[in-house]
Amino acid sequence: METRVLPFTDDSIAEAARLILAGEPVAVPTETVYGLAADATNAEAVARIYEAKGRPGFNPLIVHVPDLAAALQIGDFSEEALRLAGSHWPGPLTLVVPLRKEARIASIVTAGLPSVGLRVPDHPAMRALLRATGRPLAAPSANASGSISPTKAAHVLRSLGGRIPLIVDGGSTTQGIESTIVAATGGPLRLLRRGPIEVDAAPASRSKIESPGQLASHYAPSKPLRIGVTAADADEYLIGFGDADGDANLSHDGDLVEAAARLFDLLHEADQSPKPRIAVAPVPGEGLGAAINDRLRRAAADRQ
Ligand code: TXA
Ligand code: MG
Repeated sequence: METRVLPFTDDSIAEAARLILAGEPVAVPTETVYGLAADATNAEAVARIYEAKGRPGFNPLIVHVPDLAAALQIGDFSEEALRLAGSHWPGPLTLVVPLRKEARIASIVTAGLPSVGLRVPDHPAMRALLRATGRPLAAPSANASGSISPTKAAHVLRSLGGRIPLIVDGGSTTQGIESTIVAATGGPLRLLRRGPIEVDAAPASRSKIESPGQLASHYAPSKPLRIGVTAADADEYLIGFGDADGDANLSHDGDLVEAAARLFDLLHEADQSPKPRIAVAPVPGEGLGAAINDRLRRAAADRQ
């Protein structure tokens, strides 16, 4: 794939919006670092972020919205969360809040969690892209897995050139480090990541006051799970892949983007089924398969 680098103008934002609405990820500057943005309501588009980054695992992604009103449609805000949003948005603060049931955020964005990280960015390019798409945009830093966060279009090109269709060049970012992340999911505020904004919240620790499940940064099913299963037992809900069909199938075509996009939905479905155990058919390890297998191995190990 050829990666175009276009200066930030009305035309490049229109082209970026067209690509995003077609399900492609696009690199765009925010005030912190360049983000690799995709439509947060389109699971396959978000899976393509992981494919481009070559990240060998899933973690919850930050959802960017144009204003507080848009954030309130997606998350439940406590008084403290509202106060922080009121003083720091738009700006480099991400608030992790309970995900509203009505929100149409794809489960791959939150890695299956019942909470969501939200931020109103303060950069004209990202703000223009939010307006032009009319969608909430999931965006991790626009770098390949294992390399440092990009603060210039040239950094993005070096890291992701050939893997994404477009980089909107808005010059150097002003903050240069990723947003401060604060969780407001009940109980005291918790600082999940230090960043440009100082917030009066205790760093998150593995303390006992947390209710189980709140702290776990990854969704794991509550039932025992076996992986690489070719013949499931009668009491197992089988999640198939390709020709290895089951009670559900990650992708009948064996398409890893589709499989990644459906992974967390199917884990939730399996967890809610009457069968007491879960089995998953073999998924190849290349490309996005590495991230899928990482998530499945953790889910299997958690319950042993
Ligand atoms: O400055 C930034 O925040 C940049 C720009 C592009 O906006 N974005 C960024 O995204 O740093 P990312 O994907 O690298 O950061 C995601 C982190 C996760 O690793 C996790 O620590 C936290 O945000 N996070 C997001 N949603 C969460 C959730 N539901 N629960 C707990 N942590 C969450
Ligand atoms: Mg990052």
